[in-house]
Parts: sequence; structure tokens; C-alpha cells
Amino acid sequence: MKVTDLIPPRISNLNDYVPGKLAEDVAEEMGLGAVIKLASNENCLGPSPLAIKAMTAALTGLGRYGDADSRRFRQALADKLKAPVNQILAGNGSSEFILLLSQALLSPGLNAVMSRPSFTLYASNAKATGAEAIEVPVTKGYGHDLEAMLAKVDQRTRLVFLDNPLNPTGAWVTAEDLTAFSQKLPDNALLFLDEAYTDYSRLPRPDYSALLATGRVAIARTFSKNYGLAGIRAAYLLANPDLIQALNKFRQPFNLNLLAQVGATAALEDEEHLINSQKAVWEGIDYFNAKLPPLGLPTHPTQANFILAGPVAMGAEALDKALLKKGFIIRSLNSFGLPNHVRISVGTPAENAALVQALTQILS
Ligand SMILES: Cc1ncc(COP(=O)(O)O)c(C=O)c1O
Repeated sequence: MKVTDLIPPRISNLNDYVPGKLAEDVAEEMGLGAVIKLASNENCLGPSPLAIKAMTAALTGLGRYGDADSRRFRQALADKLKAPVNQILAGNGSSEFILLLSQALLSPGLNAVMSRPSFTLYASNAKATGAEAIEVPVTKGYGHDLEAMLAKVDQRTRLVFLDNPLNPTGAWVTAEDLTAFSQKLPDNALLFLDEAYTDYSRLPRPDYSALLATGRVAIARTFSKNYGLAGIRAAYLLANPDLIQALNKFRQPFNLNLLAQVGATAALEDEEHLINSQKAVWEGIDYFNAKLPPLGLPTHPTQANFILAGPVAMGAEALDKALLKKGFIIRSLNSFGLPNHVRISVGTPAENAALVQALTQILS
């Protein structure tokens, strides 16, 4: 038997995860000095100075294991959110929760429902368990088609993945629609509400207390976006204590590394950094909405720190390549199933202006 014969089709048939290109790789490949990356929805202001200070101070302690249960971090979250600490699970990025919940709840014969396009890990992690991933096309306005999703949920559904705002389109589900949707889900399905970009929404957020009380929703929030800590990997899940206890049984014991615990706990204190980050995004989105359509690049409504643009007359791949040559990384959306569209993350005002200048040269 070859080693590949040992790999079941549920794994060998999966598509690779396609991350945004690294700036240093593109700089080397293109022979460029500086590259601007606007492809992975990171925080253009970087981490909070408080987080940097706390992590720097913790460096000498790295010879020891950290806290396997992230207790200080979870307590700080509990205080801030006014939620019981046993409703909070710390994670190595919110990607970890997608994997853990898929492993815990799914198996062959069961299914998970999600939008297409949406965050690609939902489908791949569900399929890796042998379950079916039911991908429901988004509406014409690029939002979650909640009615169509509900129509696909059946007795074998264990997970419904919903990112709000939706990656890669930035579309938003209102508080009323979200509440109505969750109430229509059957008991056998857990709603995974992914709030990776919710901090950027300019619209009212739902009050989740009633939803959480039902025990059938799990809310994931990451420190990779508005907290500016994508590289350190930190996130938390708010969910029913029994569900969290079950996930605790098989997660990696030190899933949140020592630096991530310290950095994320410090970042929680820095309200000013959060507000500045949000402001930078709102200004960047307004700027792109003003500058891109006159270049023949239509933009679509977004509540996230990125904007969907397209259709691209010259083709999304061609635009992606032309920008790479000039030292800009954006995201063409083929791997998300939205061909001929691109997703652009908001950068600093200088980065945004440089991108618009490059686009002007390419498109006019
Ligand atoms: C919708 C959504 N959920 C989750 C994640 C994963 O974030 P993390 O860095 O916390 O694993 C991303 C990352 O881009 C995302 O877009």
C-alpha cells in the first residue's frame, strides 16, 4: 500500500486552503523593494501598543508552558462581556473553533449548511469529517440567502455557519433577520455565528442574550482583525457551558500560546486602539467607494474592513497579476467561487491612495 492509499477520499478530495500571498514572497518574486498587502483583511494600524508592551515583557518567560486553560484571558473577557467564564472558550484563532465544532458535531451521514461564497474553512472542515457541506449560493446582492439556507437545513444538519459580515462580500444580516433566522432553525442544528468583522459594522448589532440562552448558538470572535493580532492567533467562542466542556476534552491543551494570552488580554484594555482601527476602516471604505467606481470598478455595500469590487472588465486574475507587478497584493475571488471579482482590504490612507493610483494606471 502507498501512503496515499491510507488517506480517505474525504481528505484527499479537499481543496487546499488558499491564504493571501505574503508581502516578502511577492517582493522577492517581483524584485520589488516594498509591497503593500491588502489581501487578508488585517488591521492596517497593527497591534495595540499595550499588547506589544505586554508580549515583550513576557518573552523571558517563554521557557515555561503557559496556562493550558487561558484563565486570566477568559476572566478578562468575562468581566468585559459580563458573561459567565464557563461560557467562554479561548482559541488559537477562530479557525480553531470551526475545526473543533466540525469534529465534535459532524460525521458521515450528517451535514453542515453555509453560504457560497463564504469563509472557505467552513466547507473544508465539514467535509474533512465525512459530513456533507451544503453550500447555498448568496443572493444577487451578495448576501446570505437566509430563506434558501433554511430550506436546506434538515434533520441531519448539525451546524449552520454564518459569517456576519460575510467574507468575501462584506454583506450584513440585520439583527431582526438574524434573530428570526435563528428561531426557525430546528433543535438539531447549532448556529455558528462568526463575528470576525462585526466590529466594523456601522449598523446595530443584535442583542445575543436570548439567542445564547437557547444554547443553540455559538459566537466566534477573533483578535486577528480589529485587535490587530492576526500573527499571534487568538480568539474566543461564546457558547453553552456544556458544549464548551465537550470541546475542552479534545482541544490542544495549550491551544492559546503564552504570548497570545498575554497580548490579547492587554489588547482588550485598549479601547482607543479599537476605535482608531474602526475609524481607519470606515474612512478607507468611503474612500474606495468614491474612487473605484469612476475607474470602471463597481463596489458593493460592505460592513467589513474589506470591499468587494467587480465585475472586473479586464478579468479579476489579470488585474490581480497587474497589481502584483506594481507591488500590491489584493485578492481575486476564484477560490471563493466569485470569479471576475476582487476583494480589497482597507490599508492606511497612504496605502489606499497608492493602490488607487496603481489602479488608475492599469485601468485607464
Ligand atoms: C469570516 C472569517 N472567519 C474566521 C476567520 C479566521 O480568523 P482567525 O485568524 O481568527 O483564525 C477569517 C479569516 O480571515 C474569516 O474571514
